[in-house]
Amino acid sequence: MIVSQIENGFNGTVNIPGDKSISHRSIIIPSISNGICEVNNYLKSDDVINTLKAFISMGVKIEEHSKKLIIHGNGLNSLKKPKHEIFLGNSGTSARLLTGLLASQNFDTILTGDSSLSSRPMKRISDPLELMNANIKLDNGTMPVKISGSKLKNAKIDIKIPSAQIKSGIILASLNTEGTTKIIEHNITRNHTEIMLSAFDADIQQSKESHKNIITINGKKELTSQNIDVPSDLSSSAFFIVGALINDNSSILLKNININTTRNGILLALKKMGANILLINKRLSNNEEVCDIEVSSSNLKGCELDSEMSKLMIDEYPILSVAASFADSPSIFRGLGELRVKESDRLELIKINLQRCGVDCKVINDDLYIYPSKNYTLKNNSIKTNFDHRIAMAFSIMGTKIGPLKIDDPDSIKTSFPTFIEEFNKVGGNIS
Ligand code: S3P
Repeated sequence: MIVSQIENGFNGTVNIPGDKSISHRSIIIPSISNGICEVNNYLKSDDVINTLKAFISMGVKIEEHSKKLIIHGNGLNSLKKPKHEIFLGNSGTSARLLTGLLASQNFDTILTGDSSLSSRPMKRISDPLELMNANIKLDNGTMPVKISGSKLKNAKIDIKIPSAQIKSGIILASLNTEGTTKIIEHNITRNHTEIMLSAFDADIQQSKESHKNIITINGKKELTSQNIDVPSDLSSSAFFIVGALINDNSSILLKNININTTRNGILLALKKMGANILLINKRLSNNEEVCDIEVSSSNLKGCELDSEMSKLMIDEYPILSVAASFADSPSIFRGLGELRVKESDRLELIKINLQRCGVDCKVINDDLYIYPSKNYTLKNNSIKTNFDHRIAMAFSIMGTKIGPLKIDDPDSIKTSFPTFIEEFNKVGGNIS
């Protein structure tokens, strides 16, 4: 796929698809609740389809009518042993959340994934689950995950790695576990699981103890289904937000975007860089904060972000790095270690690809330094993505300024944003 430079900016309304994290949870939670749930605006991307197929293979009746999912849930213990291994493709969220949920079921399962998912760390979820007596076997810390489902015991679990996937996996395990499970989270991570479970009548409470987030779950309480409107995805929006900021003559509108404060770091960071971003029509949808976002071309300045910020925006560093490349002063983003264990080693790929684009940058320990210039000379016009969707989309935006860029393996984009190319070309981009 080739991305060319654009001259007249990005303009118009971009249709951003449903939020990926909330879409996964909108399938998982109704599937173990009681009643019928209608899910509106779910993200029909490869990652979410893999979660959907997993629950169909475990006997859940799920229909699709005029783009809505209708999920017939039959309770915490209604899932059936699947006939085959469950293949989860590229999706880390499906893998970590299902490991927790299935550890507490009364059947055995094997979870597998593509080559990227198969190289990602799974001990981070199996270790805390073992404190609940879960029986999980890994292959050298990675997939396949072999789960012998069993009755778990409640426990007190500290989570030091900043990861909503770990937290959510444990919460799902504790729903079907007698007694009170207490999770002590040392970092802020996205709280979509807690928000949805509260609406589904789970016995789940949250409090703060100094900087820690305490979540308590009283297990074995059946859940009651609710209908869900999935808001649109801020992480997907970020590509177009930065595209409009760095290209002259741009003005775009994004509607119904989730701005949950546990993951709005990209907006805070861009504001700090002087971005013209307006959040309008703020409202709640299924207890998630949403708004419409107006963005126009801006003169960005560099910024320094500490490691706390990385908890609020881990998925957006590839596109933030593109924004920083067009600022009028250097940027330093600190504490990006978690980027190394995403769909690819994102920290390395950001560095390699920025350097190919002629951007002076370096990584020291887990910190990324970017030194922008007025004139970039391409060193190599081919972008290496290692099948990582966010690297592919971030460098597509780079291409609008310094293209033509050739993006490798663009098919990965379907994992999170299947309509990306269509929307990109609709609002002024040029991908061929
Ligand atoms: C996600 C959590 C984050 C994020 C991922 C989606 C989720 O991962 O990077 O894209 O839906 O819970 P970690 O929780 O492992 O950081």
